[in-house]
Amino acid sequence: MHAVALKQVPAAVPEPLAAHHAPFDGRMFRQVLGLFPTGVTIVTTWDDQGRPVGATVSSFNTVSLDPPLVLFSLARNSACCEAFAAGGALAIHVLGHEQSELSSRFARGGGDKWVDLNYAPGELGAPLLDDSLACFECSLFAQYPGGDHVIFVAEVDNLRFRDGEPLVFCAGGYRKLAAKDACA
Ligand SMILES: Cc1cc2nc3c(=O)[nH]c(=O)nc-3n(C[C@H](O)[C@H](O)[C@H](O)COP(=O)(O)O)c2cc1C
Repeated sequence: MHAVALKQVPAAVPEPLAAHHAPFDGRMFRQVLGLFPTGVTIVTTWDDQGRPVGATVSSFNTVSLDPPLVLFSLARNSACCEAFAAGGALAIHVLGHEQSELSSRFARGGGDKWVDLNYAPGELGAPLLDDSLACFECSLFAQYPGGDHVIFVAEVDNLRFRDGEPLVFCAGGYRKLAAKDACA
């Protein structure tokens, strides 16, 4: 077998990322945050008039396994923030990739988001939407100030899930996950 000298090709060194210092341009900050892909959830609870309220949230994240804690943050000026701060039963719905319309509906402020929707109180009382990929029924564990948002930490008391693929949000748009072996 002939030995062939392989020419060492230096790996392309990526350009160092240009540093931007605070205070950032709000639009650029959101744009750069958008480079981090997330799942999409809808958080729901009841307001003080007994009406269902909810909003689309991608700031959902895990906190602790034991006890089972998760978190999400809501803008202080969102209409439903006060209802969640009141500490009643709440639910977090992880959306399936076919639910982008529902996500857009709960991302629109004002108007009746719940008209013509199937929902019912769950075992712990929070308003549950049909067909989500997974649903966590929770009680409020803690809440913390987070700048122009409030950080809600919730303890999961009940969960349900079904087969399916999640809805993904990245760079301001909805995406689907690529097939597992696509990145192999
Ligand atoms: C994909 C997506 C993710 C969002 N994530 C959040 C979030 O994590 N926190 C938040 O306060 N608003 C988030 N929003 C915006 C709210 O859904 C929107 O402001 C909503 O109208 C608030 O409802 P309300 O004002 O009726 O309470 C998101 C919107 C979209 C489309």
